[in-house]
Amino acid sequence: MRKALITGINGQDGSYLSEFLIGKGYEVHGILRRHSVAENQDARINSLDIKTYYGDLTDEVSLFKILKEVKPTEIYNLGAMSHVGISSQMPAFTIKTNSLSVISLLEFAKEICPECKVYQASSSEMFGNSIDSDGFQRLTTPMNPVSPYGCSKVMAYNLVKYYRQAYNKFYCNGILFNHESPRRGSNFVTNKVVKSIVMIKKKLINKLELGNMDSQRDWGHSQDYVEAMHLIMQYKSPNDWIVSMGETRSIRDFCEYAFSLVNLNYLDYVKHNEKYIRPLELDVLRGDSSKTRKLLNWKPKYTFESMIEEMIEYWMNKI
Ligand code: GDD
Repeated sequence: MRKALITGINGQDGSYLSEFLIGKGYEVHGILRRHSVAENQDARINSLDIKTYYGDLTDEVSLFKILKEVKPTEIYNLGAMSHVGISSQMPAFTIKTNSLSVISLLEFAKEICPECKVYQASSSEMFGNSIDSDGFQRLTTPMNPVSPYGCSKVMAYNLVKYYRQAYNKFYCNGILFNHESPRRGSNFVTNKVVKSIVMIKKKLINKLELGNMDSQRDWGHSQDYVEAMHLIMQYKSPNDWIVSMGETRSIRDFCEYAFSLVNLNYLDYVKHNEKYIRPLELDVLRGDSSKTRKLLNWKPKYTFESMIEEMIEYWMNKI
């Protein structure tokens, strides 16, 4: 029986990955952090046949106990303080959650389930403003993070490589570029924009406040990206991988297309708010995923347009 343990199981990626692994016949276990509003705890996963445990990445005791109980064959470490902007307001918490916890997780995995494979959710934010002369980021691009979040992910990335080499383990990094869906938290820019557009269309609000609209992101769909996570873990050898669409668009482009789907012009509604400007900005992301596509035979199904269309439709039905 293949047994997966997913940290961050109730997040966007955790929920899609759970569904995908259940479909593949896995027994799926996940760690949930206690939340004071119980209703918000498991909204994305409450219909799934999975087993959850209360725990926290920063609580080594809970990690130890859960690993001992589950003895997984695959661990997907998706849990994190995942908001780049907020990481500058809580840098220490970000490092504790995203970096220090990875040491505990890898040490415990090594001791408790030595054959277990580990997937680490690494991030394109690790590159900061480094970009190769052809306009792409790839595994060889220098990592120069521009946020506490990016710094924390570089540390975790290197720890995974270290444990893989030092102890001969099947520990992998997936460097995922931005990936979205209707399940995206609404303080990330894509879902904030789409949800606001629907509320504007339904005359519930009359403006959308954003920060920097000129940064560019390489956006894919979470459902496609969790399939890449699984392929990474099934490859013949452990490695690091880029998962991206290879196309870049600005926040402005995103707004223009998303507003056009409901016959509105973004210029009439989007206002600037300094509050959303970050101390440092990552300007352009565009990932070269050619090796991942070729060796893992990974093929995303969504396009930039179909992803936004699905998000609009979701909020149109929901609000
Ligand atoms: N969140 C947010 N809110 N971002 C805004 C806003 C706003 O009101 N206005 C402009 N932006 C800009 C940000 O400055 C950034 O340039 C861009 O929109 C994308 O922001 P996010 O959607 O918050 O994503 P991110 O790129 O910072 O981080 C995401 O992608 C990483 C992979 O590169 C997160 O999912 C990270 O966890 C992930 O690792």
